[in-house]
Amino acid sequence: MAVFFDPGQMIFKLDTPRSSYAMQVSPQGYLFHLYYGARVSDTELSHLLVHGGGASFSASPADAPELSLDTAPQECPGSGLSDYRAPMISVREENGALAACLKYVSHEIRKGKPALPGLPATYCNGEDEADTLALTMRDERLDLTVTLYYSVFAKLDAITRWAVAQNNGAQTLTLESLQSACVDFPGMDFDMVTLRGAWMRERHIERHGLFHGTQSIQSRRGSSGHQLNPFAALCSKDATEENGEAYGFHLVYSGNFRIEAEVSQLSSTRVVLGVNPEGFAWRLCPGESFTAPEAVLAYSKEGLGGLSRTLHRLYRKNLCRGEWRDKRRPILINNWEATYFNFDADKLVAIAKQAKKAGIEMLVMDDGWFGKRDGDVSGLGDWVVNEKKLGCSLHALVERVKAEGLLFGIWFEPEMISPDSDLCRAHPDWCFHMPGRDKSLGRNQLVLNLTLPQVRENLLAQLTAVLESADISYVKWDFNRNLTEVFSSEYMGAQAGETAHRYVLGLYEILEALNRRFPRILFESCSGGGGRFDPGMLYYMPQTWCSDDTDAIERLKIQYGTSLCYPVMSMGAHVSAVPNHGTGRTAPLTFRGGVAMCGTFGYELDLTKVSEAELDTMEDMNESFLAWQPLITQGDFYRLASPFESGGAAADITAWMFVSEDRSEALLQVFRTSVLPNSRQPRIRLRGLDPGARYRLNEDWSLTLHGDTLMNAGLPLPEVFGYGPYQSMDIYLKSV
Ligand code: DGJ
Repeated sequence: MAVFFDPGQMIFKLDTPRSSYAMQVSPQGYLFHLYYGARVSDTELSHLLVHGGGASFSASPADAPELSLDTAPQECPGSGLSDYRAPMISVREENGALAACLKYVSHEIRKGKPALPGLPATYCNGEDEADTLALTMRDERLDLTVTLYYSVFAKLDAITRWAVAQNNGAQTLTLESLQSACVDFPGMDFDMVTLRGAWMRERHIERHGLFHGTQSIQSRRGSSGHQLNPFAALCSKDATEENGEAYGFHLVYSGNFRIEAEVSQLSSTRVVLGVNPEGFAWRLCPGESFTAPEAVLAYSKEGLGGLSRTLHRLYRKNLCRGEWRDKRRPILINNWEATYFNFDADKLVAIAKQAKKAGIEMLVMDDGWFGKRDGDVSGLGDWVVNEKKLGCSLHALVERVKAEGLLFGIWFEPEMISPDSDLCRAHPDWCFHMPGRDKSLGRNQLVLNLTLPQVRENLLAQLTAVLESADISYVKWDFNRNLTEVFSSEYMGAQAGETAHRYVLGLYEILEALNRRFPRILFESCSGGGGRFDPGMLYYMPQTWCSDDTDAIERLKIQYGTSLCYPVMSMGAHVSAVPNHGTGRTAPLTFRGGVAMCGTFGYELDLTKVSEAELDTMEDMNESFLAWQPLITQGDFYRLASPFESGGAAADITAWMFVSEDRSEALLQVFRTSVLPNSRQPRIRLRGLDPGARYRLNEDWSLTLHGDTLMNAGLPLPEVFGYGPYQSMDIYLKSV
């Protein structure tokens, strides 16, 4: 068991292989946080609890005048009473009073990990993979219980938390916030690392020192968004990729979120994360319960790199599901950047023919095959094949593509509706809108109100009909605008604050139904690129299109940043045409191929317009990818040189490597993005190898070196790796 309970001291201690998390129930029933960090042997840790004093002007609870809840580290702080810091729960009574004070009632420790009703979450493959502590707390006045769940993974330094509130009383309560987790740290000596971005520029790494007051990242967009990912790390000031402490906080959720770090007057730090309380209010009638989404907490003493590898492993095996979790994904060609809306079946088959020559395995038909859709102004919602445009039925097209030896995939944007669509004409009230207000258009489209059961049913029926009509192996699920006028006739008045969360629950319900109905289909999530790249979506779809920016140089940053918390096997990455449609840049084909290999690997360009020589190069790249694919998708990922940092005396280099679990093989990828005349040749220090093992480098290098030599002395890159701005290199290492 990874959960220990000391009944004498009322202490709970959760142990992962290299981390410990401890808390204690006070004589009055308050649940205080004792410790989170590197693993410790003792369970009796009550000496770590420092509370009381130091907080002038703060009040004390009536049952514990010696205590200051404003300074005590708490597991589930309430609001409205004497803790003025960020609460985990805020509850309003019928009379308007806003307060919550939770005290310990009971607990249960069990093997395995329960599912979260209607929500995505990490899971166990066998009961031995995790133990779960369920701590029931109660507010006596409200007659409300909150069960705090802690699942402790046996082989990973990860603990996940979520909470369930249950109204056992007679009055109707309003949950103004129920956050998923709260962790109080005794100091503020941390940097906060987040992933910021925009459309075409997702998940760039940002790092800054904590300051007094609140620093938060959030989304109010109805989806997790391009702008800030629902992930934050706190790391020691000296933390690097290899060394130093790092704590990760990640929300398994795809809607409005908030992660805040509040540094108090006494320079302690509280991290709280969950559904964004802004605009949220959930009516909790007598007998009803509400489940807050899961938060993943991870700890590493091996810097940010160690933190990433823990999250990668967790998401690869305990979050992504279905047969595509472990199965090799086909190398695909997507027609979006090849044709945009301008295609028919003959054009797609012509691309498929060329693709086959290069060893590509699947053709994906993107936007434009349905309803009236020759641009982005109409058609969304009418998921009926436009046979006139294609020149044949979907079934016939799929069979033609299969006859060329390729699998077939298809694009949908199911959550949207164009005002110019049959669906909108038949059901003008099915989109989000507010009485007396205009409807805001984004990319000429509106968002379907998924809180309405009839909308969900219609959508499922339409998608099912298309997916059953032909042999479809893959679905790209797009989402190209954020929510506005979030209002639903089903949830008016006191329930209006539920709508945004109910939208996400409606989406999850549809995705769950589709996963069950079509277990063979590989789903890829997309939102104008990576606008909804979050663990919630990964539970239903094991890969996400990283960005609409397919420029390989930009992708170095996007994929490097994404890898901070997401595994390589989840990162959708394609080789596209040059000059790049988004940036106008021209990088060599092998460079573009190398970057796309750090992901799901595919193509997105008009193969009928490439030369035979380019097709041959693609064939070579595909062969290499197939050979390296197990290593790339299942191996450990090490970031070696950051695209966010300039190379100084050497030119700008980005480098990363993949190492197999048994450390018998590895792949090093190096990319040079600028030329610095008369500069020193870069030397790369490898990581993750077995120090005592000898590795043979690519045959053409005829070098065999020990792991420790490669990791400590490093590997000077050859002279030739210096001419031209966009140079890349793949170095395969095999232990001998
Ligand atoms: C946005 C996606 O990110 C693109 O890849 C493409 O599918 C377009 N939408 C189609 O409208």
